[in-house]
Amino acid sequence: MNRLLHGGDYNPEQWLDRPDILEQDIRILKKTGCNTVTLGVFSWSALEPEEGVFDFSCLEKMIDRLYGNGIQVILATPSGARPKWLSDAWSEVLRTDAARVKQLYGTRHNHCYTSPVYREKTARIDRELARRFGRHPAVIMWHISNEFGGECHCPLCQEAFRKWLRTRYGSIEELNRRWWTAFWSHIYQDFDQIESPSPIGENMLHALNLDWKRFVTDQSADFMRHEIRAIRTGSDLPVTTNLMYYFQGLDYFTFVRDLDIVSWDSYPTWHKEDVLETARDNGLWHDMMRSLKRQPFLLMESCPSSTNWQGVSKLKPPGLLEAQSIQAVAHGADGAMYFQIRQSRGASEKFHGAVIDHYGGEDTRVIREVTATGKMLEKLAELAGTVTESRVAILYDWNSLWAMEDSQGPRNDGLHYRELLLDIYHACRDLALDVDLADEGIAGEDLLQYQIVFMPTLYQFRSGFAGKVRDFVNHGGILITTCWSGIADETDLCYLGGTPHDLTDVLGVRSMEIDGLYDHEENRMVPAADKAAGLRDPDDEIRIGSSYRCRYLCDLVSLCGAGTVLVYDDGFYREMPALTVHSFGEGEAWYVASHAQRSLYRDLLADIMRRHDIPGLVAGELPHGLEVTSRVRREDNREERYLIFQNFGKESLTIPLQGKEYEDLAGNAAKPLPVYGTAVVRIPGNGKSRRRLS
Ligand code: GAL
Repeated sequence: MNRLLHGGDYNPEQWLDRPDILEQDIRILKKTGCNTVTLGVFSWSALEPEEGVFDFSCLEKMIDRLYGNGIQVILATPSGARPKWLSDAWSEVLRTDAARVKQLYGTRHNHCYTSPVYREKTARIDRELARRFGRHPAVIMWHISNEFGGECHCPLCQEAFRKWLRTRYGSIEELNRRWWTAFWSHIYQDFDQIESPSPIGENMLHALNLDWKRFVTDQSADFMRHEIRAIRTGSDLPVTTNLMYYFQGLDYFTFVRDLDIVSWDSYPTWHKEDVLETARDNGLWHDMMRSLKRQPFLLMESCPSSTNWQGVSKLKPPGLLEAQSIQAVAHGADGAMYFQIRQSRGASEKFHGAVIDHYGGEDTRVIREVTATGKMLEKLAELAGTVTESRVAILYDWNSLWAMEDSQGPRNDGLHYRELLLDIYHACRDLALDVDLADEGIAGEDLLQYQIVFMPTLYQFRSGFAGKVRDFVNHGGILITTCWSGIADETDLCYLGGTPHDLTDVLGVRSMEIDGLYDHEENRMVPAADKAAGLRDPDDEIRIGSSYRCRYLCDLVSLCGAGTVLVYDDGFYREMPALTVHSFGEGEAWYVASHAQRSLYRDLLADIMRRHDIPGLVAGELPHGLEVTSRVRREDNREERYLIFQNFGKESLTIPLQGKEYEDLAGNAAKPLPVYGTAVVRIPGNGKSRRRLS
């Protein structure tokens, strides 16, 4: 792609009796700099009004007309919602919920991914679409279905689950062993006895719950693959599907394997708190989307004004739409698209914001904002295809999260994992570091590309994973682990012989007991008398602050090599280690024994960067509210590095570029950056990639 995509979901099938409106839409798309629309996401009943009778004439006319006007098309497969005739004739296509209640026709996204009928009907229309439009010059990409999610517990899914378990375990004895079914006398004699978890049945066998979630991911991916195969009969174009914000129903690292491009739908609730908090929260998930395949992604949906499904629908003040869209690009997206181009007149999304509202004129504030965003995206076109190279990774693993949330562990009142994740992310961004996210699978393959790896409460270690972490530290990596990591294996069997499993020698600590704190309780971490005895170089002075609040969980560790930097200040474990460090091989391993306040992670990271000479993207502290990210192009030994600055603060801010040679892409980098402003500079590089660990 040599430009950034700008446009959005467009549903002309709702307006076929208004050719004047369809004409006007094209005019507005061009005026606002929209170069791409997504068609057909929910068009099945218009495209196949009766079983086997396809009518693509309107779609064809629309695609031709868009092409004639220089607008590209992302074409969707329509499986996200189905025609009534389909579920009337074959009720198996509808879902059965976990309480075994069969769903009626209605809403969308409620189909069974296992149903052979649903697969057959979907593949048939997909093949027809691919045959008709797979080589149309307007069509650039396929959008498979919509927001995959949810699960079905029908008899077909039960059978598929049992087959999946047979393949995974080979014998029922092995399953019993791995699931620890002797507990409460739950030993199975045969795979045929196994039922998916249910509120009216088995729901406390954690390994069953965990395997069910894995199965749902695999089955959803299998359905998607089935659709991709159908598309491939007539088209080689890239395929994507739109993922969701912090979605827990699918393991996205596994789910995206068959996609060419990751895309997602981002609907941040701006102005519910400090805008920077929202920007960081959203930025983290953009980074996740980039990290899933380690390549540019696409912002498939975002709202040009206000949504209609959030508790309170707030408008975006001037400039925020542009900031929100460019933020995606800043974190590695090759385009920013909207839901939706034209607001529906009826049904459930009639009040959802759109580029074109019910008034329909071109003289609206939203159209002005969209136009400004389009212009900015044009100025930044050369960012398309560039990549992000991060020195830091944060480990985030869906399997571990599922297991941890279900564990019936030390804090069933909430582990506050997202808060921890964000606290660490804030530290990295405050210090101008780009961040990748990695799960145990991806990280296992290539941890050595990072200099610093955070391992926040990684409860579950897959077999062999600890060895990868050990290699990383051994080769000079800096590891920061937080409490309750390495506790259980893939089937939630607790590790014996000391935790964090297989890393006690690397970290130089062993977890002995863990204390859950009530919401109203807190402890503090304060300096230890004998600071940092765990470091190889006794002159290596650690400089961090003097007192940090900590909450939720307090791990009591015994030292086996590590030095203590901070100790607890309260309770019967006063003066026991709360922050430790240990030199191991060429690297260094930190253990944060409790959930510390945000500033601990920032101070710790700043000190690590100082001691190890790890630079941020810009020198010195960033003023509060100023975000910086980077993208890089490497070609023939040439490097071009882009720095993208965005102001999510409360006043104009100066960009710290003094003394640097740069090209100013938007022409505003030398001036104070207004609130919601973006400045992008290109800096010629030395062609060297960021240092890999040896
Ligand atoms: C998305 C969905 C769209 C639309 C949008 C409204 O989750 O994919 O079809 O419903 O939300 O915000």
